[in-house]
Amino acid sequence: MIESLKKLQESALSELQSVETIEQLDALVLKYFGRSKGLLNNVLKNIKNLSESDRRTLGAQANEVKVAIWKLIDEKRNEIRSKNKPEFLDLTATGKTTLGHLHPITQMSKEIKEVFRSMGYSVLVGPEIESDYYNFEALNIPSEHPARDMFDTFYVKDPNPKSKEKLVLRTHTSPMQARVMENYKPPFAVIIPGRTFRNEATDARHEHTFYQVEGLVVDENISLANLKWSLDTLIQKIFGGEIKTQYRPSYFPFTEPSVEVLMSCIFCNQKGCSICSRTGWLEVLGAGMVHPKVFEVAGYPKGKYSGFAFGLGIMRFAMLKYNIPDIRMFHQNDARLLKQF
Ligand code: PHE
Repeated sequence: MIESLKKLQESALSELQSVETIEQLDALVLKYFGRSKGLLNNVLKNIKNLSESDRRTLGAQANEVKVAIWKLIDEKRNEIRSKNKPEFLDLTATGKTTLGHLHPITQMSKEIKEVFRSMGYSVLVGPEIESDYYNFEALNIPSEHPARDMFDTFYVKDPNPKSKEKLVLRTHTSPMQARVMENYKPPFAVIIPGRTFRNEATDARHEHTFYQVEGLVVDENISLANLKWSLDTLIQKIFGGEIKTQYRPSYFPFTEPSVEVLMSCIFCNQKGCSICSRTGWLEVLGAGMVHPKVFEVAGYPKGKYSGFAFGLGIMRFAMLKYNIPDIRMFHQNDARLLKQF
């Protein structure tokens, strides 16, 4: 029996030498010390058949063997663990990720808002899903009006089957003119930036999803001169103090008179280039004096107030300011473009 104990000890020690993983070590522990099939236990089971004195010596020896093997197993376990320690992970380390930044549309929008805030305007927001009433009717565009052609849109199904309201994705931010007048008593000066939609065949200058800033100022005795001062200030603060502006007659159903606002071409200094179609001028805004019909729909007393409204395209401003040649680039999210801002 002593012989077989010795042999067991030797084979356990030599097997231990080639162990490399915790799994192999666990298997070895099971092989020698497993309760039912462990080799050492098998030997010890026979001790009870020996004479008392043999039992004592052999018992003591078996114990020594057991302790010796366990000691080596523990050492091996520590050795494997320290080898496999996870790499030191420094959670305070910086610099591996690149920081994102605001999208050029957001940057342009913030810049425009800042200019208007500096002139005392408040900033409001409105719904992107609008009723046909606010998008068209309240703005003097009845259902058969030809001006609806300028604003072809996406019609939205109302989830409420009982609703008689026709819903559209707003084609401009102008419905907020009607909503603001319903809810606020003049005097006020507000801008409403936001996302707008049109059923467009897209090209370099037209997108189905785009961004506008609406403006509305109402008080007694507001004139076209006030409109001109606000928009000249905007254009010169965004594009530079040397920029000239031009106001030409135009048409919108909700303003009278209506104007289109142009600024001197920033690309060619008015010498004439492909961006300004050799005219020296770039069209940047639609605007006008609030139409009496719109005041009437809002329930304002006849003749008491006057006001002006305007609408500008944020992407158009950004294209001119940052020299982006195609409006569709804003939504492509190509990092090569975005990284430049
Ligand atoms: N809503 C008009 C458009 O989208 C712009 C506009 C706004 C014109 C306010 C006049 C007054 O084309």
